Amino acid sequence: MTLRGTRPGPLAVLALLSGGSMRVRMLSMALLLAAAGCASPITTTGTPPTATIAPTGQATPIGPNEPTAPIVPIVPAGPTGPPGRTTPAAPAGAPVAGTPSATASGTAGARKAEARPDWPVGNFPAPRPARRINCERVRCVALTFDDGPGTYTGALLDMLARYRGRATFFVVGQMVPGDGERILRRMVAEGHELGNHSWSHPELPGLSEAGIREQLNRTQWIVKRATGVTMDLMRPPYGATDARVAAESRHLGLAQILWDVDTLDWRDRDSSIVARRAAEATPGSIVLMHDIHLSTVQAVPRLLRHFAARGYRLVTLSELYGRRLVSGRKYPVGSGF
Ligand code: NI
Repeated sequence: MTLRGTRPGPLAVLALLSGGSMRVRMLSMALLLAAAGCASPITTTGTPPTATIAPTGQATPIGPNEPTAPIVPIVPAGPTGPPGRTTPAAPAGAPVAGTPSATASGTAGARKAEARPDWPVGNFPAPRPARRINCERVRCVALTFDDGPGTYTGALLDMLARYRGRATFFVVGQMVPGDGERILRRMVAEGHELGNHSWSHPELPGLSEAGIREQLNRTQWIVKRATGVTMDLMRPPYGATDARVAAESRHLGLAQILWDVDTLDWRDRDSSIVARRAAEATPGSIVLMHDIHLSTVQAVPRLLRHFAARGYRLVTLSELYGRRLVSGRKYPVGSGF
């Protein structure tokens, strides 16, 4: 099966650019990083977004062909109400922009509550606990998605739910305010794991110790505020780490998670290529992907079928290791990073 999309016309592009605060934020972030000369995987330019996955009759090398549901970008449902229980104190320099305000209309709140009755507005979602899976006996693979939450993350969560797959999302803090808070709360409610991927995706070894700490602290804070979850995993942007990054991670109780399968999905915006690379995972693999790219999300249905057909369980990092990881240490151990 190949994936075929239609290029959006000028009006569609205009609608995309003006259609939501998250898109605007992603775009401005891409521009910011481009201006900084950063060879970043965070960019929304490149392959134009498409509205649906159109299955064709060609066989895919990694799984059977079957129709897939359209990918529907998330629709803002109004501001997320502030968490109703404890709200952690903001660290120095914590952002105030994007803070949930009291402007949620009764209509938007009612619609959201109706859609998810187990998830009352104003409360943290009840985290679904990690499953007890012995990944030394069962084939496990940990899919990880970095740099979001993004426009297509909601569609990705729908796909994972359909296959009872769980994943780990390494969150960029500045992507969270607004719609991202709702997405993060859904991740927690559906059993996915959250990890810290810095506030604005810099190369951490290039920062001062205070700078490294602020990058990690701000993201810890906003995720805690949105979900009630205190993360204990981090992934350094670009996989760039050193002794000081390790020390600050240890200080904040964060294990460093790298990967052993790199899909290079930020570079190759082709879902066939992404799916093929991810399918190289072996039992125990940690697969690196980015949920801000449509082509990556489009690759996921095939991946889910591929792994399901081979008896794999799609697990979070905590489920993969089955124990609490050591703060500051790099995983997978001996990964060469
Ligand atoms: Ni990244």
